Amino acid sequence: MLYFLLGILAVIGVHTILLKKQMERRIKINRYHMIVSALFSIYTIFLIEFLHDRKIHMNYELLNIFLIYVPIGIAMPLIYQRYKYFIRDVIYVVLIDLYILILQNFSTGKHNSLMILFSLLGLLFGYFICTCINHVYPELRKSLILKKRRKKIVISLYEIETITVCFVVLFSIIATAEQVSGKNTNKEGKESVHQTSGVPQEEGDRYSHIYYADADKYDRYDAYAKKNPRMPLEEVVWRVDANLDQEFYDEKYIKYADENTDTPLLINKFNRVEDDFEPDELVALEGDYIATPQTVAAYQKLTDDMEELGMKIYVCSSYRSVNYQDRLYRYYLKTDSVEEVDTYSSRPGFSEHHTGRAIDVSQVYNKLEAFEGSDEALWLYANAYKYGFIVRYKDDQTDVTGYIFEPWHIVYVGEEISNTMHDEKIETLEEYVVKYVDHHKP
Ligand code: DAL
Ligand code: ZN
Repeated sequence: MLYFLLGILAVIGVHTILLKKQMERRIKINRYHMIVSALFSIYTIFLIEFLHDRKIHMNYELLNIFLIYVPIGIAMPLIYQRYKYFIRDVIYVVLIDLYILILQNFSTGKHNSLMILFSLLGLLFGYFICTCINHVYPELRKSLILKKRRKKIVISLYEIETITVCFVVLFSIIATAEQVSGKNTNKEGKESVHQTSGVPQEEGDRYSHIYYADADKYDRYDAYAKKNPRMPLEEVVWRVDANLDQEFYDEKYIKYADENTDTPLLINKFNRVEDDFEPDELVALEGDYIATPQTVAAYQKLTDDMEELGMKIYVCSSYRSVNYQDRLYRYYLKTDSVEEVDTYSSRPGFSEHHTGRAIDVSQVYNKLEAFEGSDEALWLYANAYKYGFIVRYKDDQTDVTGYIFEPWHIVYVGEEISNTMHDEKIETLEEYVVKYVDHHKP
């Protein structure tokens, strides 16, 4: 932000000098060129600042990248007659992108190289628009470019403007690079938090309005906010409370479900059951499948209502022992790598199926992959909560759950929880547990 303001001040400064000189009648300037070049300079500074903020936002939409670069393609040739400098513009865009990619890699170990392709496409599209404008309305370009006889007098001031903008951008780049490499972590952490939440920045005050914020995790909140500058602070906090700032299955964060309960609520890649865990009571669900009595009763109601509507679903999996999950997981490993298997199968001890409350269903027996998009799946998505079930692994929550979209996997959590989640638009059990179990809503 500071560099953005400095850049704007520099542009204003240069243009004030230009106007002053014109008033003293020492030079004659092309007003349109002046306005457009000032706007273009501000846009360039804005672009760099804008991309800084998104340097580690890996889901950054490629369409946005495309659109961001279109104005460069339009403005450069319009105001600077740079058709012949096409290569230079390409280099300019690629350099900006490389810088962003390096920052991404530095901060997250990942980068999104398609960004270069989309920004060049944006540039090309801008050139195309510029060419069309020239065909339809050639006077526009003529009115914008500097006439030869005026050029010499004014050009040096425009050069000053360009150089100043370059310097501001360069300083801004160096400052960001230092922040990313950790030399200035505190400052950037606070800045990001401020940008995303708008809450006061004083030390210790940033999270005090969030009832589920833990004082001993402030450093982790800061670090996670820095990595996710666009994420609201409330989300940063519950995600960190759910350990999502850590690697899945990191031993330091793994907790065992309370031995005294036969219904551990949260089972995920940080919360597991003991190897010999077994729910207190398991009863027949469908065929040979078994589940807890509450799950069976709720599922019965749900399927009765579905059948009345002419829909039928079949159970494809329910309770699994840790031993069974172990065999399953090893079986998957015969064909897929650990990384791949971890996206669709729990490791033994970490499966919700151990609780006897999770059920996999499909309208085609034993064909889970046929379920997505079916009428039955859509109905379940909208109505499962009324029976105390939730669809556990949603398609837009894979970074929270750690699993790919599983429309077929429902888990019984009881109507009180499923209704609260529905009413409060809470998409995952991870978020619910932080907000309603680990902390009490005031
Ligand atoms: N497919 C789910 C994640 C499980 O293995 O429990
Ligand atoms: Zn399942």
